[in-house]
Amino acid sequence: MDKFIIKGGRKLKGVVEISGSKNASLPILMATLLTDEPCVVSRVPDLRDIRTTIEILKELGKNVNYNNGVVTVRAKRKLKTAVSHDLVKQMRASFWVAGPLLARFKKAVIPLPGGCAIGVRPVDIHIKGFEKFGVKISMEKGNIVVKAKNLKPAKIILSFPSVGATLNLMMCASLINGTTVLENVAREPEVEDVIKALRSMGADIIIDEKGRIIIKGRAKLGGMNHTVIADRIETGTYILAAAATRGDVLLNNCAPEHNEILLDYLRDAGFNVEIDESSVRICCRSKKINPVNIKTAPFPGFATDLQAPWMSLMCLCAGSADVSEDIFENRFMHAPELIRMGANIVIDRNTAQIIGVKNFGPAVVMASDLRGGAALVIAGLCAKGKSEVERIYHIDRGYENMEKKLSALGASIKRFNPAA
Ligand code: UD1
Repeated sequence: MDKFIIKGGRKLKGVVEISGSKNASLPILMATLLTDEPCVVSRVPDLRDIRTTIEILKELGKNVNYNNGVVTVRAKRKLKTAVSHDLVKQMRASFWVAGPLLARFKKAVIPLPGGCAIGVRPVDIHIKGFEKFGVKISMEKGNIVVKAKNLKPAKIILSFPSVGATLNLMMCASLINGTTVLENVAREPEVEDVIKALRSMGADIIIDEKGRIIIKGRAKLGGMNHTVIADRIETGTYILAAAATRGDVLLNNCAPEHNEILLDYLRDAGFNVEIDESSVRICCRSKKINPVNIKTAPFPGFATDLQAPWMSLMCLCAGSADVSEDIFENRFMHAPELIRMGANIVIDRNTAQIIGVKNFGPAVVMASDLRGGAALVIAGLCAKGKSEVERIYHIDRGYENMEKKLSALGASIKRFNPAA
């Protein structure tokens, strides 16, 4: 298993180009199942989760080509409606093929999803929504089987603005005859990008003034030619890495409006943040990092995916700061590893109370999920001396060329495969 070897203590300096969004690319690639027409999706990052999604599309019968960030999806044969466990267990978002498959074939067989071990992560909100469309749900040999004689439009109020459920139900409704209204939906930028992609396929979807998603189902959708938005979580991670190392970094090709709350909090923490239409520059105003409390929340609140990298920054604050996780129930697995690197953190239910320390110390630590892994890399970049971050296959799920991008910013970080 690959690990990172980091010799920390260097300030990150320079320019970094931000990749296309993983979390927008995944559902947009899945939306290609809604049509037999050719689809071209550009700015797709080269990541493990993307490769898994491509394998799922191929397994279902699509012809997929991935070259230099451009994915071309064409019909090869009649699509299958079952996905194998080997693929689904690698990525929880695999369950999102259920919506498009139901819409096209009124049936899908999907193993219970796997993915990051950051909580129970049930799919009950998806299921309740599908039931309103007239879908019958059963469990057979570890698979969720969703089937319908006829799909009907519905008014669905989500019990929580789940990103995945919003996407799954929206993709499904885009081919259900009649008007579907989804309320209490996720408003993440990735959802808006999927809406844009679906519209380019001919879908009739609007977000009304009450924030509801209204879908008038079409009999058929066409192909698409879509470029995905910048990855706001990758953007936030590099911003936080620059801040924690007291560096000076310009991030290009990003969307600063998708990271507004993070940038506000960084200003409160004492950093200089300059934004342009598609770039962010972050540098220090003083040596001291002010403590700032955060709570994660659905967009436009503080992104749960940036909670772990933010925690690494707050571990170095002058004073004490609270980090509350209100989206996932088990998303502090990075905290014990940060403590091994010298951080002072006490977890009380969903809140981490952090007392700032002068710096992290080098250590061998283990990534246990994607964003938690990024938090450990940030700590390793700060710690003077040699740190190792093990199990970086988690990090490879979501960060394109992380070691190359960080090296270009002056970090000493190398990938090492003990078995090679
Ligand atoms: C997506 C993102 C993930 C991000 C999360 C929240 C992708 C590939 N993943 O995940 O990076 O952290 O949004 O912004 O885009 N829940 C239920 N029942 C359900 C669905 C969700 O209880 O049926 C709960 C989950 O357990 C979790 C919370 O709702 O506690 C948020 O989940 P959700 O918004 O669905 O996250 P994902 O779509 O899985």
